[in-house]
Amino acid sequence: MNDSRRKLHGTWASRWTFVMAATGSAVGLGNIWKFPYITGENGGGAFVLVYLGCILLVGVPVMMAEVMLGRKGRMSPINAMKSITRDAGLHGAWNSIGWLGVIAGLMILSYYAVIAGWALNYIIEMGSGTLHGADGPEASALFADLLASPKKLIFWQTIFMLLTMGVVIGGVTKGLGVAVRVLMPLLFVLLVILLVFSAREGDFYQGWTFLFSFRSENLTWGGVLEAMGHAFFTLSLGMGAIMAYGAYMPEHAPIGKTVVTVAFLDTVVALLAGLAIFPIVFANPSVSANAGPGLLFETLPVVFGNMPGGLFFGTLFFLLVTVAAWSSSISLIEPAVAWLIETGRCNRITANLLLGLIAWIVGLGTVLSFNVWEDHRLFGFNFFESMDFLTARVMLPLTGLFIAIFVAWLMKPAEVFSAIGDDPPVLLTLWLRVLRYLSPVAVAVILVIGLYKTFF
Ligand code: PHE
Repeated sequence: MNDSRRKLHGTWASRWTFVMAATGSAVGLGNIWKFPYITGENGGGAFVLVYLGCILLVGVPVMMAEVMLGRKGRMSPINAMKSITRDAGLHGAWNSIGWLGVIAGLMILSYYAVIAGWALNYIIEMGSGTLHGADGPEASALFADLLASPKKLIFWQTIFMLLTMGVVIGGVTKGLGVAVRVLMPLLFVLLVILLVFSAREGDFYQGWTFLFSFRSENLTWGGVLEAMGHAFFTLSLGMGAIMAYGAYMPEHAPIGKTVVTVAFLDTVVALLAGLAIFPIVFANPSVSANAGPGLLFETLPVVFGNMPGGLFFGTLFFLLVTVAAWSSSISLIEPAVAWLIETGRCNRITANLLLGLIAWIVGLGTVLSFNVWEDHRLFGFNFFESMDFLTARVMLPLTGLFIAIFVAWLMKPAEVFSAIGDDPPVLLTLWLRVLRYLSPVAVAVILVIGLYKTFF
């Protein structure tokens, strides 16, 4: 059975291809766009410390559980969960882990493609010199123009969706596998080039201080919630991506070691992205480092537009953002594609076209949230914000919680250990304890407080 399952989708060429694919999924807009500005807003070093705690105590354990489930089931998250619950004689309701994940993936993809489209647009704006010498109001006006134009947003969203589908249509070995082996080294090279540029041209000391100095007075409970939600989002947990990728992993590769590597790389990229961004922001006295979400698309264009060589490096920067988003978006659609193929009704091409179209149509809601539907709100959220809230704040943590309970409380430990691979037994025992007692409590508390704070 396992053999025929593996043949249906193929497997990664090696453990390292899995590491690159999972890192590609993890490193995305979350690392380069979101992490730097939420760190700035929430107390720098104090926030980074809380975030690292969340990655270690919740992120890594849940990620190990996801990879294990995927590799054990050897199918899309939906069918993997079906076969595991059936074999273990557990209630079918646990299959919801697979369903919730696959649906969350498509929902995230719908808005992810729109935002990644902004980065595509800025490759052109930077490269063509529009932003040469731009000041703050000019850069903000350019960004506002983009957001106000459904036509432009849809154009870039469509291109990005085509890029995503183009890779996933190629399949696990020839599409995703090849893409990550090209994109991930490219991403690291770009990041290093930008770091060197930032260290030479920027105010490195001030950038470093902003990111790492301890300003615990700026860290609130809201910041702790944010750190936790972000740990899930940035590691691509709770939505089947990692489970689906786990299904294509070689049989005996040690899951613990592999997952720690991925979490480490993801964190390093987030920190390096911060170090590439803030020094050059501080080198320009006319802009502020506290622009929040506008940091990437309003502040940075001014900075790049006014530096020697800035247009060239700015173009590289937005290329970096696009590459990071691209290697993430393929993992957002793959779980659903794998599932549709398994139903036997579609081949890879039709599955991609169908699901891509659905994500594209839902994405139009996000496009319109920035202009025509800006004032259509539910509980204060516009369409884009409700998608973001529902996925990042509710569905991902909820699925993560279910996964922790399922693996640590319901599956037999012997079964879990035999499925996880060749890591040192002491560490595996420790992992299962953390997954049993610590991770679910932390996720549950944060989920409940987060929902309470939002609505009351
Ligand atoms: N981890 C990605 C990021 O940081 C986003 C993502 C979430 C990708 C969930 C896949 C699944 O941008």
